[in-house]
Amino acid sequence: MPKIKLYKDVEPTFTMYYNVIMYKLYPYVTNDGSIGLFSPEVDDIYHSTYGALSEAYEKFILPVDWKLFFQNNNQIKILDICFGIGYNTKSFLNYYLENIYNGSIDTNNIINNDKIYSNNINHNIFIKAIDVDKNLALISPFFKTCIKDLKNFNPPFYQNRIEKYRSKNINSNYKLKKEINLLLLYKIVNYIDNDILILLNDNNYSKYFDRSVISFFKCLKNIKLTDSPFSKFITFLHNIYYKYISLSHKNVHKYLKSIDFNFKLNICDARQVLSDDNSLYNFVFLDAFTPSKCPCLWTFDFIKLIFDHLEPGGIVLTYSSAANVRNAFIEAGFVIKKVYSESLKKYTGTVAIKTNLSSNENYLNKNLVHELSEFDLGLLKTKAGIFYRDKNLTSQNEAIIALHEKEVNESDKISTTKFKKRVKIDNKCGI
Ligand SMILES: C[S@@+](CC[C@H](N)C(=O)[O-])C[C@H]1O[C@@H](n2cnc3c(N)ncnc32)[C@H](O)[C@@H]1O
Repeated sequence: MPKIKLYKDVEPTFTMYYNVIMYKLYPYVTNDGSIGLFSPEVDDIYHSTYGALSEAYEKFILPVDWKLFFQNNNQIKILDICFGIGYNTKSFLNYYLENIYNGSIDTNNIINNDKIYSNNINHNIFIKAIDVDKNLALISPFFKTCIKDLKNFNPPFYQNRIEKYRSKNINSNYKLKKEINLLLLYKIVNYIDNDILILLNDNNYSKYFDRSVISFFKCLKNIKLTDSPFSKFITFLHNIYYKYISLSHKNVHKYLKSIDFNFKLNICDARQVLSDDNSLYNFVFLDAFTPSKCPCLWTFDFIKLIFDHLEPGGIVLTYSSAANVRNAFIEAGFVIKKVYSESLKKYTGTVAIKTNLSSNENYLNKNLVHELSEFDLGLLKTKAGIFYRDKNLTSQNEAIIALHEKEVNESDKISTTKFKKRVKIDNKCGI
Protein backbone atom coordinates (compact mmCIF):
# COMPACT_ATOMS: atom_id res chain seq x y z
CA MET A 1 0.00 0.00 0.00
CA PRO A 2 1.64 3.33 -0.97
CA LYS A 3 2.03 5.59 2.02
CA ILE A 4 3.32 9.13 1.88
CA LYS A 5 4.06 10.93 5.10
CA LEU A 6 3.04 14.55 4.97
CA TYR A 7 2.25 15.45 8.53
CA LYS A 8 2.85 14.05 11.96
CA ASP A 9 -0.70 12.91 12.67
CA VAL A 10 -2.30 12.99 9.27
CA GLU A 11 -0.85 10.42 6.96
CA PRO A 12 -2.49 10.35 3.54
CA THR A 13 -2.16 7.07 1.73
CA PHE A 14 -3.82 6.72 -1.63
CA THR A 15 -2.50 9.15 -4.18
CA MET A 16 -5.79 9.01 -6.10
CA TYR A 17 -7.37 10.99 -3.28
CA TYR A 18 -4.91 13.85 -3.72
CA ASN A 19 -6.03 14.79 -7.15
CA VAL A 20 -8.60 17.33 -6.17
CA ILE A 21 -9.32 18.17 -9.81
CA MET A 22 -10.74 14.66 -10.17
CA TYR A 23 -12.22 14.69 -6.70
CA LYS A 24 -15.96 15.15 -6.46
CA LEU A 25 -18.35 15.35 -3.57
CA TYR A 26 -21.92 14.09 -4.00
CA PRO A 27 -23.82 15.81 -1.20
CA TYR A 28 -27.55 15.60 -0.58
CA VAL A 29 -29.87 16.59 2.24
CA THR A 30 -30.98 13.61 4.32
CA ASN A 31 -34.44 13.52 5.91
CA ASP A 32 -33.34 15.10 9.18
CA GLY A 33 -31.72 18.09 7.45
CA SER A 34 -28.15 16.87 7.93
CA ILE A 35 -25.97 16.51 4.87
CA GLY A 36 -25.26 13.05 3.52
CA LEU A 37 -22.90 11.90 0.79
CA PHE A 38 -23.03 9.37 -1.99
CA SER A 39 -20.03 7.51 -3.44
CA PRO A 40 -20.26 6.55 -7.12
CA GLU A 41 -17.03 4.51 -6.84
CA VAL A 42 -18.44 2.28 -4.13
CA ASP A 43 -21.99 2.75 -5.43
CA ASP A 44 -23.11 3.22 -1.86
CA ILE A 45 -24.31 6.01 0.37
CA TYR A 46 -22.10 7.23 3.18
CA HIS A 47 -25.15 8.24 5.17
CA SER A 48 -28.68 6.91 5.32
CA THR A 49 -31.44 8.99 3.69
CA TYR A 50 -33.22 8.53 7.04
CA GLY A 51 -30.80 11.13 8.46
CA ALA A 52 -27.01 11.23 8.71
CA LEU A 53 -27.12 12.78 12.18
CA SER A 54 -30.06 10.68 13.43
CA GLU A 55 -28.28 7.53 12.34
CA ALA A 56 -25.09 8.55 14.14
CA TYR A 57 -27.02 9.36 17.32
CA GLU A 58 -29.20 6.27 17.32
CA LYS A 59 -26.55 3.72 16.39
CA PHE A 60 -23.42 5.09 18.01
CA ILE A 61 -24.44 7.34 20.90
CA LEU A 62 -27.78 6.36 22.42
CA PRO A 63 -26.88 2.67 22.97
CA VAL A 64 -24.29 3.74 25.59
CA ASP A 65 -24.91 5.00 29.11
CA TRP A 66 -22.28 7.75 28.82
CA LYS A 67 -23.33 9.41 32.08
CA LEU A 68 -22.54 6.28 34.01
CA PHE A 69 -19.27 5.88 32.14
CA PHE A 70 -18.17 9.39 33.11
CA GLN A 71 -19.29 8.85 36.70
CA ASN A 72 -16.67 6.12 36.91
CA ASN A 73 -14.01 7.46 34.51
CA ASN A 74 -12.31 10.80 33.95
CA GLN A 75 -10.67 9.61 30.80
CA ILE A 76 -12.13 8.17 27.62
CA LYS A 77 -10.46 6.79 24.51
CA ILE A 78 -12.58 6.46 21.39
CA LEU A 79 -11.60 4.98 18.05
CA ASP A 80 -13.73 6.28 15.18
CA ILE A 81 -13.11 3.84 12.30
CA CYS A 82 -14.30 5.35 9.01
CA PHE A 83 -14.54 8.94 10.16
CA GLY A 84 -15.90 10.19 6.80
CA ILE A 85 -17.27 13.65 7.57
CA GLY A 86 -17.30 12.85 11.23
CA TYR A 87 -20.92 12.41 12.29
CA ASN A 88 -20.11 9.82 14.93
CA THR A 89 -17.35 11.86 16.56
CA LYS A 90 -19.44 15.03 16.25
CA SER A 91 -22.47 13.33 17.82
CA PHE A 92 -20.36 12.06 20.71
CA LEU A 93 -18.92 15.53 21.35
CA ASN A 94 -22.37 17.06 21.10
CA TYR A 95 -23.85 14.55 23.54
CA TYR A 96 -20.91 15.08 25.86
CA LEU A 97 -21.24 18.87 25.86
CA GLU A 98 -25.01 18.76 26.31
CA ASN A 99 -25.26 16.03 28.91
CA ILE A 100 -21.95 15.43 30.66
CA TYR A 101 -19.94 18.63 30.60
CA ASN A 102 -20.91 20.96 33.37
CA GLY A 103 -18.79 24.03 32.78
CA SER A 104 -20.48 27.33 33.34
CA ILE A 105 -20.45 29.72 30.43
CA ASP A 106 -19.18 33.16 31.12
CA THR A 107 -19.55 35.06 27.90
CA ASN A 108 -17.68 38.09 29.17
CA ASN A 109 -14.44 36.17 29.41
CA ILE A 110 -12.79 34.58 26.43
CA ILE A 111 -9.67 32.66 27.27
CA ASN A 112 -7.75 34.92 29.57
CA ASN A 113 -9.28 34.35 32.96
CA ASP A 114 -8.32 30.91 34.26
CA LYS A 115 -10.55 31.27 37.31
CA ILE A 116 -13.79 30.93 35.36
CA TYR A 117 -12.91 27.35 34.44
CA SER A 118 -12.00 26.17 37.90
CA ASN A 119 -15.37 24.45 38.51
CA ASN A 120 -15.16 22.20 35.51
CA ILE A 121 -14.34 18.54 35.70
CA ASN A 122 -11.13 18.00 33.85
CA HIS A 123 -12.10 15.14 31.57
CA ASN A 124 -9.51 13.72 29.27
CA ILE A 125 -11.07 12.89 25.91
CA PHE A 126 -9.00 11.20 23.27
CA ILE A 127 -10.53 10.45 19.88
CA LYS A 128 -8.56 8.73 17.18
CA ALA A 129 -10.29 9.00 13.81
CA ILE A 130 -9.33 6.92 10.80
CA ASP A 131 -10.32 7.22 7.17
CA VAL A 132 -8.60 6.69 3.83
CA ASP A 133 -10.13 9.84 2.40
CA LYS A 134 -8.12 12.89 3.39
CA ASN A 135 -10.40 15.38 1.66
CA LEU A 136 -13.54 14.20 3.40
CA ALA A 137 -11.98 14.22 6.84
CA LEU A 138 -10.46 17.68 6.45
CA ILE A 139 -13.56 19.25 4.99
CA SER A 140 -15.79 17.75 7.68
CA PRO A 141 -15.99 20.84 9.96
CA PHE A 142 -17.27 23.00 7.13
CA PHE A 143 -20.52 21.17 6.42
CA LYS A 144 -23.66 22.88 7.62
CA THR A 145 -25.06 21.10 10.66
CA CYS A 146 -28.69 21.33 9.62
CA ILE A 147 -30.59 22.46 6.53
CA LYS A 148 -33.99 23.76 7.59
CA ASP A 149 -35.57 24.46 4.26
CA LEU A 150 -35.25 22.21 1.21
CA LYS A 151 -36.20 25.00 -1.20
CA ASN A 152 -32.74 25.58 -2.63
CA PHE A 153 -31.66 21.97 -2.45
CA ASN A 154 -32.86 20.36 -5.62
CA PRO A 155 -32.97 16.58 -5.85
CA PRO A 156 -29.50 15.21 -6.52
CA PHE A 157 -29.45 14.64 -10.27
CA TYR A 158 -26.80 11.92 -9.98
CA GLN A 159 -28.75 9.56 -7.80
CA ASN A 160 -32.32 8.66 -8.57
CA ARG A 161 -32.05 5.87 -6.05
CA ILE A 162 -31.63 8.32 -3.20
CA GLU A 163 -34.55 10.47 -4.29
CA LYS A 164 -37.27 7.92 -3.68
CA TYR A 165 -36.29 7.63 -0.02
CA ARG A 166 -36.21 11.35 0.63
CA SER A 167 -39.16 12.93 2.40
CA LYS A 168 -40.61 16.29 1.41
CA ASN A 169 -40.06 17.87 4.82
CA ILE A 170 -37.24 17.93 7.29
CA ASN A 171 -37.89 15.94 10.44
CA SER A 172 -35.12 16.18 13.00
CA ASN A 173 -34.91 14.97 16.59
CA TYR A 174 -31.26 15.85 17.01
CA LYS A 175 -29.30 19.03 16.63
CA LEU A 176 -25.57 19.62 16.57
CA LYS A 177 -24.30 22.58 18.53
CA LYS A 178 -22.48 25.09 16.36
CA GLU A 179 -19.40 24.66 18.54
CA ILE A 180 -18.83 21.07 17.41
CA ASN A 181 -17.61 21.99 13.94
CA LEU A 182 -15.47 24.76 15.40
CA LEU A 183 -13.91 22.39 17.94
CA LEU A 184 -12.95 19.96 15.18
CA LEU A 185 -11.68 22.78 13.04
CA TYR A 186 -9.33 23.86 15.82
CA LYS A 187 -7.90 20.37 15.97
CA ILE A 188 -7.23 19.94 12.25
CA VAL A 189 -6.71 23.48 11.05
CA ASN A 190 -2.98 22.99 10.52
CA TYR A 191 -3.56 20.16 8.09
CA ILE A 192 -6.01 21.96 5.83
CA ASP A 193 -4.26 22.29 2.52
CA ASN A 194 -4.87 23.66 -0.91
CA ASP A 195 -7.07 20.72 -1.95
CA ILE A 196 -9.54 21.65 0.73
CA LEU A 197 -9.47 25.31 -0.25
CA ILE A 198 -10.33 24.28 -3.83
CA LEU A 199 -13.32 22.30 -2.57
CA LEU A 200 -14.40 25.13 -0.28
CA ASN A 201 -14.31 27.56 -3.19
CA ASP A 202 -16.23 25.27 -5.56
CA ASN A 203 -19.61 26.84 -6.33
CA ASN A 204 -21.21 23.41 -6.72
CA TYR A 205 -20.82 22.76 -3.02
CA SER A 206 -20.97 26.21 -1.47
CA LYS A 207 -24.59 25.91 -0.30
CA TYR A 208 -23.62 22.85 1.76
CA PHE A 209 -20.88 24.71 3.63
CA ASP A 210 -21.29 26.96 6.63
CA ARG A 211 -19.98 30.44 5.74
CA SER A 212 -19.40 31.34 9.38
CA VAL A 213 -17.10 28.32 9.83
CA ILE A 214 -15.19 29.33 6.70
CA SER A 215 -14.77 32.86 8.09
CA PHE A 216 -13.63 31.42 11.38
CA PHE A 217 -11.15 29.24 9.53
CA LYS A 218 -9.69 32.33 7.86
CA CYS A 219 -9.19 33.84 11.31
CA LEU A 220 -7.64 30.67 12.66
CA LYS A 221 -5.14 30.53 9.85
CA ASN A 222 -3.62 33.66 11.35
CA ILE A 223 -4.11 32.71 14.97
CA LYS A 224 -3.18 29.40 16.44
CA LEU A 225 -4.69 28.78 19.84
CA THR A 226 -2.04 27.93 22.40
CA ASP A 227 -1.59 28.86 26.00
CA SER A 228 1.42 31.06 25.44
CA PRO A 229 1.08 34.67 26.62
CA PHE A 230 1.95 35.83 23.13
CA SER A 231 -0.87 33.88 21.51
CA LYS A 232 -3.26 35.16 24.17
CA PHE A 233 -2.21 38.66 23.30
CA ILE A 234 -2.72 37.97 19.59
CA THR A 235 -6.10 36.45 20.35
CA PHE A 236 -6.97 39.50 22.40
CA LEU A 237 -6.13 41.77 19.46
CA HIS A 238 -8.01 39.47 17.16
CA ASN A 239 -11.09 39.64 19.33
CA ILE A 240 -11.02 43.40 19.24
CA TYR A 241 -10.67 43.25 15.51
CA TYR A 242 -13.59 40.86 15.21
CA LYS A 243 -15.80 42.93 17.45
CA TYR A 244 -18.76 40.62 17.18
CA ILE A 245 -17.10 37.30 17.80
CA SER A 246 -20.01 34.97 18.40
CA LEU A 247 -20.99 33.17 21.56
CA SER A 248 -20.15 29.81 20.02
CA HIS A 249 -16.59 30.93 19.31
CA LYS A 250 -16.20 31.97 22.92
CA ASN A 251 -17.63 28.67 24.07
CA VAL A 252 -15.14 26.78 21.96
CA HIS A 253 -12.29 28.59 23.70
CA LYS A 254 -13.83 27.70 27.01
CA TYR A 255 -14.24 24.02 26.13
CA LEU A 256 -10.70 23.75 24.85
CA LYS A 257 -9.46 25.30 28.04
CA SER A 258 -11.46 23.14 30.41
CA ILE A 259 -11.51 19.75 28.66
CA ASP A 260 -8.35 17.90 27.83
CA PHE A 261 -9.52 17.07 24.31
CA ASN A 262 -7.10 15.32 21.98
CA PHE A 263 -8.09 14.48 18.46
CA LYS A 264 -5.83 12.50 16.20
CA LEU A 265 -6.67 11.95 12.57
CA ASN A 266 -5.05 9.11 10.66
CA ILE A 267 -5.53 9.13 6.91
CA CYS A 268 -4.72 5.55 6.09
CA ASP A 269 -6.24 2.10 5.72
CA ALA A 270 -7.75 1.26 9.12
CA ARG A 271 -6.09 -2.16 9.07
CA GLN A 272 -2.67 -0.56 8.81
CA VAL A 273 -3.38 2.08 11.45
CA LEU A 274 -4.55 -0.48 13.99
CA SER A 275 -1.72 -2.88 13.21
CA ASP A 276 0.75 -0.07 14.05
CA ASP A 277 -1.14 1.14 17.13
CA ASN A 278 -0.40 -0.02 20.68
CA SER A 279 -3.18 1.91 22.44
CA LEU A 280 -6.26 0.46 24.08
CA TYR A 281 -9.67 2.08 23.62
CA ASN A 282 -12.91 2.18 25.61
CA PHE A 283 -15.22 2.54 22.62
CA VAL A 284 -14.95 1.84 18.91
CA PHE A 285 -17.31 3.24 16.28
CA LEU A 286 -17.19 0.91 13.29
CA ASP A 287 -18.90 2.61 10.36
CA ALA A 288 -17.46 1.08 7.19
CA PHE A 289 -19.40 0.79 3.95
CA THR A 290 -21.70 -2.23 3.85
CA PRO A 291 -19.89 -5.62 4.23
CA SER A 292 -20.68 -6.73 0.67
CA LYS A 293 -18.94 -3.56 -0.68
CA CYS A 294 -16.11 -3.12 1.82
CA PRO A 295 -15.57 -6.51 3.48
CA CYS A 296 -11.96 -5.69 4.49
CA LEU A 297 -13.24 -3.88 7.59
CA TRP A 298 -15.71 -6.62 8.55
CA THR A 299 -13.46 -9.69 8.44
CA PHE A 300 -12.88 -11.95 11.42
CA ASP A 301 -9.22 -10.90 11.32
CA PHE A 302 -9.94 -7.15 11.49
CA ILE A 303 -12.54 -7.62 14.19
CA LYS A 304 -10.01 -9.65 16.19
CA LEU A 305 -7.56 -6.75 15.75
CA ILE A 306 -10.20 -4.41 17.20
CA PHE A 307 -10.72 -6.84 20.10
CA ASP A 308 -7.00 -6.64 20.85
CA HIS A 309 -7.21 -2.83 20.94
CA LEU A 310 -10.01 -2.64 23.50
CA GLU A 311 -9.78 -2.21 27.24
CA PRO A 312 -11.55 -4.98 29.21
CA GLY A 313 -15.23 -4.06 29.02
CA GLY A 314 -14.58 -2.04 25.86
CA ILE A 315 -17.50 -1.69 23.48
CA VAL A 316 -17.78 -1.69 19.69
CA LEU A 317 -20.80 0.02 18.16
CA THR A 318 -21.86 -0.60 14.59
CA TYR A 319 -24.89 -0.29 12.35
CA SER A 320 -24.39 -3.76 10.87
CA SER A 321 -26.76 -6.56 11.86
CA ALA A 322 -25.31 -8.97 9.29
CA ALA A 323 -25.07 -12.53 10.59
CA ASN A 324 -21.49 -12.90 9.28
CA VAL A 325 -20.40 -9.73 11.11
CA ARG A 326 -22.07 -10.87 14.35
CA ASN A 327 -20.47 -14.27 14.01
CA ALA A 328 -17.05 -12.71 13.46
CA PHE A 329 -17.53 -10.71 16.68
CA ILE A 330 -18.40 -13.86 18.62
CA GLU A 331 -15.49 -15.81 17.13
CA ALA A 332 -13.13 -12.95 18.08
CA GLY A 333 -14.25 -13.24 21.71
CA PHE A 334 -16.95 -10.57 22.02
CA VAL A 335 -20.37 -10.85 23.64
CA ILE A 336 -22.90 -9.31 21.28
CA LYS A 337 -26.25 -7.62 21.65
CA LYS A 338 -28.55 -5.75 19.30
CA VAL A 339 -29.66 -2.13 19.24
CA TYR A 340 -33.28 -1.00 19.03
CA SER A 341 -34.22 2.25 17.32
CA GLU A 342 -37.26 3.78 18.99
CA SER A 343 -37.97 6.09 16.07
CA LEU A 344 -37.71 3.33 13.43
CA LYS A 345 -39.36 0.73 15.70
CA LYS A 346 -36.89 -1.95 14.70
CA TYR A 347 -33.45 -3.30 15.51
CA THR A 348 -30.81 -1.34 13.62
CA GLY A 349 -27.38 -2.33 14.85
CA THR A 350 -25.07 -4.41 16.97
CA VAL A 351 -22.94 -3.76 20.01
CA ALA A 352 -20.02 -6.02 20.89
CA ILE A 353 -18.57 -6.07 24.39
CA LYS A 354 -15.11 -7.37 25.26
CA THR A 355 -16.30 -9.19 28.35
CA ASN A 356 -19.48 -10.67 29.67
CA LEU A 357 -18.93 -9.35 33.16
CA SER A 358 -22.19 -7.72 34.12
CA SER A 359 -20.46 -4.70 35.69
CA ASN A 360 -19.07 -3.70 32.30
CA GLU A 361 -22.33 -4.20 30.51
CA ASN A 362 -23.69 -1.46 32.71
CA TYR A 363 -22.27 1.09 30.29
CA LEU A 364 -24.92 0.04 27.80
CA ASN A 365 -28.31 1.70 27.67
CA LYS A 366 -30.51 -1.21 28.70
CA ASN A 367 -33.65 0.35 27.22
CA LEU A 368 -32.18 0.11 23.75
CA VAL A 369 -29.66 -2.73 23.89
CA HIS A 370 -31.20 -6.20 23.97
CA GLU A 371 -30.16 -9.85 23.82
CA LEU A 372 -30.19 -11.59 20.44
CA SER A 373 -33.32 -13.68 19.84
CA GLU A 374 -33.36 -17.43 19.16
CA PHE A 375 -33.91 -16.55 15.50
CA ASP A 376 -30.87 -14.21 15.41
CA LEU A 377 -28.73 -16.90 17.01
CA GLY A 378 -30.02 -19.57 14.62
CA LEU A 379 -29.15 -17.35 11.66
CA LEU A 380 -25.51 -17.27 12.79
CA LYS A 381 -25.29 -21.04 12.23
CA THR A 382 -26.47 -20.81 8.61
CA LYS A 383 -24.43 -19.92 5.54
CA ALA A 384 -25.28 -16.27 6.25
CA GLY A 385 -23.10 -16.55 9.36
CA ILE A 386 -19.94 -17.45 7.44
CA PHE A 387 -17.63 -14.51 8.00
CA TYR A 388 -15.11 -12.84 5.70
CA ARG A 389 -11.42 -13.59 6.17
CA ASP A 390 -8.29 -11.52 5.57
CA LYS A 391 -5.51 -13.43 7.31
CA ASN A 392 -2.70 -10.92 6.62
CA LEU A 393 -4.96 -7.85 6.80
CA THR A 394 -3.74 -6.71 3.40
CA SER A 395 -6.15 -8.30 0.87
CA GLN A 396 -8.15 -6.26 -1.60
CA ASN A 397 -11.94 -6.30 -1.17
CA GLU A 398 -12.39 -8.31 -4.40
CA ALA A 399 -10.08 -11.07 -3.14
CA ILE A 400 -11.87 -11.18 0.21
CA ILE A 401 -15.24 -11.50 -1.54
CA ALA A 402 -13.95 -14.29 -3.82
CA LEU A 403 -12.55 -16.25 -0.87
CA HIS A 404 -15.82 -15.82 1.02
CA GLU A 405 -17.92 -16.97 -1.94
CA LYS A 406 -15.79 -20.09 -2.25
CA GLU A 407 -16.20 -20.88 1.44
CA VAL A 408 -19.96 -20.35 1.30
CA ASN A 409 -20.31 -22.56 -1.79
CA GLU A 410 -18.25 -25.34 -0.27
CA SER A 411 -19.94 -25.17 3.13
CA ASP A 412 -22.49 -27.81 4.14
CA LYS A 413 -24.20 -25.40 6.56
CA ILE A 414 -27.94 -24.92 6.08
CA SER A 415 -28.84 -22.13 3.63
CA THR A 416 -30.45 -19.02 5.09
CA THR A 417 -33.59 -19.49 2.97
CA LYS A 418 -34.05 -23.07 4.23
CA PHE A 419 -33.50 -21.92 7.80
CA LYS A 420 -36.11 -19.18 7.47
CA LYS A 421 -38.62 -21.62 5.94
CA ARG A 422 -37.99 -24.07 8.74
CA VAL A 423 -38.58 -21.39 11.37
CA LYS A 424 -41.84 -20.43 9.61
CA ILE A 425 -43.07 -24.05 9.63
CA ASP A 426 -42.01 -24.52 13.26
CA ASN A 427 -43.89 -21.34 14.19
CA LYS A 428 -47.04 -22.51 12.37
CA CYS A 429 -46.88 -25.88 14.12
CA GLY A 430 -46.37 -24.09 17.42
CA ILE A 431 -42.97 -25.68 18.08
C1 LIG B 1 -20.10 4.75 5.50
S1 LIG B 1 -18.77 5.88 5.30
C2 LIG B 1 -18.54 6.46 6.95
C3 LIG B 1 -19.36 7.67 7.27
C4 LIG B 1 -18.79 8.44 8.43
N1 LIG B 1 -18.81 7.72 9.67
C5 LIG B 1 -19.41 9.81 8.58
O1 LIG B 1 -19.87 10.16 9.67
O2 LIG B 1 -19.41 10.57 7.61
C6 LIG B 1 -17.40 4.81 5.10
C7 LIG B 1 -16.04 5.48 5.14
O3 LIG B 1 -15.06 4.46 5.11
C8 LIG B 1 -13.90 4.97 4.50
N2 LIG B 1 -13.05 3.81 4.16
C9 LIG B 1 -13.22 2.92 3.15
N3 LIG B 1 -12.28 1.97 3.20
C10 LIG B 1 -11.49 2.24 4.28
C11 LIG B 1 -10.35 1.60 4.86
N4 LIG B 1 -9.84 0.49 4.36
N5 LIG B 1 -9.81 2.18 5.95
C12 LIG B 1 -10.31 3.32 6.49
N6 LIG B 1 -11.39 3.95 5.97
C13 LIG B 1 -11.98 3.42 4.89
C14 LIG B 1 -14.45 5.78 3.35
O4 LIG B 1 -13.53 6.76 2.90
C15 LIG B 1 -15.72 6.39 3.97
O5 LIG B 1 -15.46 7.68 4.45
